[in-house]
Amino acid sequence: MSSKKRVLVVDDELNIRRILQASFDKNGWVALTAESGEEALAVLGREEVDCVLTDVTMPGLSGYDLQKQIADKFPNLPVVIMTAFGTIPQAIESIRSGAFEFVTKPFDLDSVKKVVQSALEGDSAKAKKSSRKKATGGSASKAFIAESPAMKEILEMVQQVADSRATVLVTGESGTGKEVIARLIHTYSNRNENPFVAISCAALPETLLESELFGHEKGAFTGADSAKAGRFELADTGTFFLDEVGDIPMPIQIKLLRVLQEREFERLGATKPTRVDVRLVTATNRDLQEAVDDGLFRLDLLYRLQVVEIHLPPLRERIEDIKPLCEHFLAKYSEENGRSLATVSDEALEVLSNYPWPGNVRELENTMERATVMAKADETEMLVKHLPSKMRTAA
Ligand SMILES: Nc1ncnc2c1ncn2[C@@H]1O[C@H](COP(=O)(O)OP(=O)(O)OP(=O)(O)O)[C@@H](O)[C@H]1O
Ligand SMILES: [Mg+2]
Repeated sequence: MSSKKRVLVVDDELNIRRILQASFDKNGWVALTAESGEEALAVLGREEVDCVLTDVTMPGLSGYDLQKQIADKFPNLPVVIMTAFGTIPQAIESIRSGAFEFVTKPFDLDSVKKVVQSALEGDSAKAKKSSRKKATGGSASKAFIAESPAMKEILEMVQQVADSRATVLVTGESGTGKEVIARLIHTYSNRNENPFVAISCAALPETLLESELFGHEKGAFTGADSAKAGRFELADTGTFFLDEVGDIPMPIQIKLLRVLQEREFERLGATKPTRVDVRLVTATNRDLQEAVDDGLFRLDLLYRLQVVEIHLPPLRERIEDIKPLCEHFLAKYSEENGRSLATVSDEALEVLSNYPWPGNVRELENTMERATVMAKADETEMLVKHLPSKMRTAA
């Protein structure tokens, strides 16, 4: 027999404490209450608690301060924040500093219960159970070139956020390496032996995208001959990479928001929800704030997606990376094409450093592939003559 889960409700309003207590009791949990952050800490000092649900604005210690102290003293205790709508950026900040999740007031009892439920289940519990091989200096990081200060900082950030459940939004021009970063986050995380599932939201019609993401039951629509799991289910316990997230149509944005908050969704045509434990990484080369201003993207979803934002600068702003990237790709394509190019001449490097690289790393990769093809089998140094004429004349 597992003992009842214990939830501590912290709110200065008696009514709210009562409503939540009654509802949690009905759910089979034991609800303890505290009317201030100070009292909550006292309760935590003497009682077993499995989850804390706290209001933000209270006399004395605020909910955020309480969360920080709990993170310090009871690092494994999940804290759910109840915040007024309109202060979401602050709530996102609390997730960055370790809060499990936030719900907005006035709340809907059902979603509060679902969020507390996920907190009690212990997010990524399944993921943590999997034997964990930490990727340290393995092939994944060797293939990832980060010489410039900007990229070194990004690599550090990736390692730092990899294990958390925070959603990551990767932005940057086309070809800057957004997908590489998404995979690296997975590789460095404690989910790295679980699935990594990727999908691009661009160019898929709405209904197809919806059924790809969430799956469908048999007969959900014409042509649905059998039930099918969506990518969210396939990514369970692992990492889900949603590419071109700016292209998601509004109705699907609402469903996505719900998965992020409540960790559940319905397959198309299903009556029962499916629960998943997924770490979401998204990418876009669009300006999502602009899409919000144009009414094409939900602001609340954007907040959820960019709990952590990683912006990849264009290659022309990190020219220190050009030489190591060239050598990396020369080695790769020399081997593929039976050539010997390994180094870059000073003059060629000068040309490459002055080129604006609108296609970023992908364009540089293509350029190096072409250079190996152009080179004779015994040439070991890449020269200006191996580069396309448009680059030579630009210089
Ligand atoms: N830092 C890096 N080290 C090694 N290879 C890289 C790096 N960054 C990018 N690449 C390579 O460059 C190519 C483009 O990268 P990727 O597909 O991740 O870009 P992207 O930002 O997702 O582009 P798009 O916006 O067009 O989808 C890939 O082949 C990738 O392996
Ligand atoms: Mg991409």
